[in-house]
Amino acid sequence: MTAPVCVSAPAKINLHLEVLGLRGDGFHELAMVMQSIDLADQLDCENAADASLTLSCDQPELSCGEDNLILRAARLLRERSGFNELGARMHLHKRIPIGAGLAGGSSDGAAALVALNTLWGLGLSAAQLETLAAELGSDMPFCIAGGTQLCFGRGERLEVLPAVSAPMGVVLVKDPSISVSTPWAYGECKRQRRDHYLEGEPAFERRRESLRSSSWLQPLRAQVPPPLRNDLQEVVEPQNTSVQHALKLLEPLSGQIGVAMSGSGPSCFALFQNRNAAERARQDSDQLFQDAGLQSWSCSLIPHGVRLVT
Ligand code: C5P
Repeated sequence: MTAPVCVSAPAKINLHLEVLGLRGDGFHELAMVMQSIDLADQLDCENAADASLTLSCDQPELSCGEDNLILRAARLLRERSGFNELGARMHLHKRIPIGAGLAGGSSDGAAALVALNTLWGLGLSAAQLETLAAELGSDMPFCIAGGTQLCFGRGERLEVLPAVSAPMGVVLVKDPSISVSTPWAYGECKRQRRDHYLEGEPAFERRRESLRSSSWLQPLRAQVPPPLRNDLQEVVEPQNTSVQHALKLLEPLSGQIGVAMSGSGPSCFALFQNRNAAERARQDSDQLFQDAGLQSWSCSLIPHGVRLVT
């Protein structure tokens, strides 16, 4: 009997989220810089002798049914391994807010792939796990190795960037009662911005190339604030008062070097030179955040994604 395996599943923020255009499969062609942060869930896995795959969670509002990405990832991995007798009992310690634009569900699914690959001794490489992850969700491949990566395609074409040298700090805020549907956000984007979309692979590749050689990727490594961009913010912010409140409270924070919404929202963040500066600013505004119904966290940018913790 193998020992239980525990992994941490970090959230991500988008330092850059650019909607380039539409793809043949109906998804959007994206150009993103994704960044892992040290706000993380933990997934504990142990073998189940009866070939069952079960999930429990310390947050009752999260569905632990077949739709959960952890169970979908476990089923896919077992099916592709060809060993139908494999089973696992999994327990999720949920820390990342749900429906927040922080890839919490995707990171949990990526965590299941990494943990069960180890628990079951399958020996798949990170690249093989990323290919499986792409079948389950657009953000999931990034979450396996995490860190700082350029993400193209639906989000699954990954190009690793050197890690940010000294970890910048982040203040993250979210209204716990609000979530934004990702399909809705992309649908709104298409409705409002379609006329400005780029068309065709050559146009997409020119834009990717200019991002790869962008001068701001260099400053990111040298702790100079990157020019944050999120095209979905333009469509979500005008229709979501919690995003408007969050951005309005983050902008005046002392020491912030950039403010944006993450993913399809509604969580928003401010960057700082380091974690201490972020924590000071968060504490100074704690009451204001609470009065606006926002939960707040201070955390750091980190150079990795899912990791074994035992
Ligand atoms: O892949 P994921 O399940 O995260 O995508 C959720 C939804 O978001 C998709 O069904 C699609 O409507 C939209 N989406 C998109 N283009 C992407 C990623 C997501 O249109 N690149």
